[in-house]
Amino acid sequence: MQLTLQSCEVRSYRTADAESLARHANNRKIWLNLRDAFPHPYKSKDAREFIRSARHRTPETTFAIAVGGEAVGSVGFVLRHDVERVSAEIGYWLAESFWGRGIATEVLIAATDYAIATHTLTRVYALPFAWNAASCRVLEKAGYVLEGQLRRSAIKNGVITDQMQYAFIVPEPPSLSVDDPLPPGNPG
Ligand SMILES: CC(C)(COP(=O)(O)OP(=O)(O)OC[C@H]1O[C@@H](n2cnc3c(N)ncnc32)[C@H](O)[C@@H]1OP(=O)(O)O)[C@@H](O)C(=O)NCCC(=O)NCCS
Repeated sequence: MQLTLQSCEVRSYRTADAESLARHANNRKIWLNLRDAFPHPYKSKDAREFIRSARHRTPETTFAIAVGGEAVGSVGFVLRHDVERVSAEIGYWLAESFWGRGIATEVLIAATDYAIATHTLTRVYALPFAWNAASCRVLEKAGYVLEGQLRRSAIKNGVITDQMQYAFIVPEPPSLSVDDPLPPGNPG
């Protein structure tokens, strides 16, 4: 998979991404805003294992954010199952040296479109911690709406915190009723 955007590429992971991924991921400011499954410190071995698992998973749902060919972040989604199989949770992080240039917003818009189109979803959601104003702003800029505040729903770094529930909802297609007038020029 490869999406060429203005500021970066979103593409399938390559084995050779491990060194740059580990270097950029090894950042406490990034770890503080992600789930505990994201290691800290982040070692080359963690990057190699993560990339191996991302490359072997079917369907492919986790991708590198690349600038100038170098992996500088990650975006991925988790497809929900059973009655929630029309939903997915999205997550992302970007190397600190690239913050503030609109990259995450562009990536989120493209990755949301990709997830919806590829998996026929009606909803993609994210759960940033309440203190993560940058991520909330990125979600808003990408067209996500705040649905609620999940009070005291998570613990990170020993601190109980709220999570903000943001969702991008695919609008229902307009249903044509028998009473709808025929479009002009259509003889019926
Ligand atoms: C969140 C993150 C992906 C944002 O990446 P980015 O490429 O810098 O995002 P963008 O440049 O597209 O947009 C950032 C927006 O947040 C705003 N922002 C940044 N820090 C902020 C703060 N402390 N308070 C309020 N807004 C803030 C920026 O001003 C910008 O909004 P603007 O365009 O209206 O000015 C990046 O900071 C990151 O990787 N953080 C750590 C991991 C993380 O939080 N992942 C998301 C988990 S839900």
